Amino acid sequence: MRMIDIIEKKRDGHPLSKEEINFFVEGYTNNTIPDYQVSSLLMAIFFQDMNDDERANLTLAMVNSGEQIDLSAIDGIKVDKHSTGGVGDTTTLVLGPLVAACGVPVAKMSGRGLGHTGGTIDKLEAIEGFHVELTSEQFVKQVNELKLAVIGQSGNLTPADKKLYALRDVTATVNSIPLIASSIMSKKIAAGAGAIVLDVKTGDGAFMKTTEEARNLAKAMVRIGNDVGRKTMAIISDMSQPLGNAIGNSLEVIEAIETLKGNGPKDLTELCLTLGSQMVVVGGKAQTLEEARQMLLQVIEDGSALEIFKQFIKWQGGNDAIINDLSLLPQAKYTFEVPAQKDGYITFMEADEIGTAAMLLGAGRATKESEIDLAVGIVLQKKVGDSVKKGESLATIYANSDNVQEVLDKLTTYIEIEATKKEAPPLIYEIIT
Ligand code: URA
Ligand code: CA
Repeated sequence: MRMIDIIEKKRDGHPLSKEEINFFVEGYTNNTIPDYQVSSLLMAIFFQDMNDDERANLTLAMVNSGEQIDLSAIDGIKVDKHSTGGVGDTTTLVLGPLVAACGVPVAKMSGRGLGHTGGTIDKLEAIEGFHVELTSEQFVKQVNELKLAVIGQSGNLTPADKKLYALRDVTATVNSIPLIASSIMSKKIAAGAGAIVLDVKTGDGAFMKTTEEARNLAKAMVRIGNDVGRKTMAIISDMSQPLGNAIGNSLEVIEAIETLKGNGPKDLTELCLTLGSQMVVVGGKAQTLEEARQMLLQVIEDGSALEIFKQFIKWQGGNDAIINDLSLLPQAKYTFEVPAQKDGYITFMEADEIGTAAMLLGAGRATKESEIDLAVGIVLQKKVGDSVKKGESLATIYANSDNVQEVLDKLTTYIEIEATKKEAPPLIYEIIT
């Protein structure tokens, strides 16, 4: 087989066979096919697209390029959730205990990553003593008995995706539905997911800026998942304003605990119920989304979801007293209010800029080497559609420095106030099953 024939075939709009896809993915991973030929093929895929079979085959080729996590020692269907990323997204912390309480095993491998706030692991490490270094025996035992464990990233998963993603980044081929969808799905499958629920964000703070783009991506991923034997569902949700009220690591742990107690922000709670329902259905614990939703409401109501979160903290070495005493979490030295400059209604809160403001405080990493300050962040006092009076607080800044002028200016600029009311954008645009 020759790479040039594969490039030519795709250039002319013909579908590639499974063997051809395996050939280029393996060849690129082993450095036997050069960057320039793969770049050319990626650009051909960008213009000519891939059909459903090609997308499934590309996903599996990337899964097979490296190690795969074997979760077969864990009973039941292992459901994983993936979000395409947003600002102040606290859902993982809430969903884990919530669906575990409904009997769905959650065996989560999570990262730190770059961004406005830390990843799930950073947030959990705001809890004193909490650690994510479990042996695979401990991990399996904990998921079997408690239904919930979180472990740090390990192993050489999907090396083909790492190389291809880096090449796409410098060849203007990132923004291609078949390439994005196979990239995301390959990582979930290699991490051992038996079923997958996807939260595709849309809006300014998201990777997919329009609902149309988000819908295409979500449908492509659902199709791939089901084609490779992993029951997959998706939703399209709003990321034009931050999710919930808290943006920051320990602040989001607090928000998650409040949500598990039934006192969370409305949008975060609703998103968790929607995604959680899909997880319970693909995990085989309910027949319908409505039945699943009732189960989730029940485990919040009777305290069993909160109890699992408490046990989970204890199993992983953390101080579970935080559940009843939130002041045991890292505390910022200073707080500042952001006063409204006039009367009116909140018409816009630019998610991306508000996230950057949290990062300026130290809540996120600008580079891989940066240290995170777990105590700092922002708590929004208002959301789009709310009315405000001049001088009233729009948000509270939690800082460890007394100079927050830049953050204050950013929040004042990017939380827009107008005289006429604008309705909040819908939280969930579409449910794809
Ligand atoms: N995120 C991924 O993991 N892969 C892509 O291709 C794009 C976004
Ligand atoms: Ca939040």
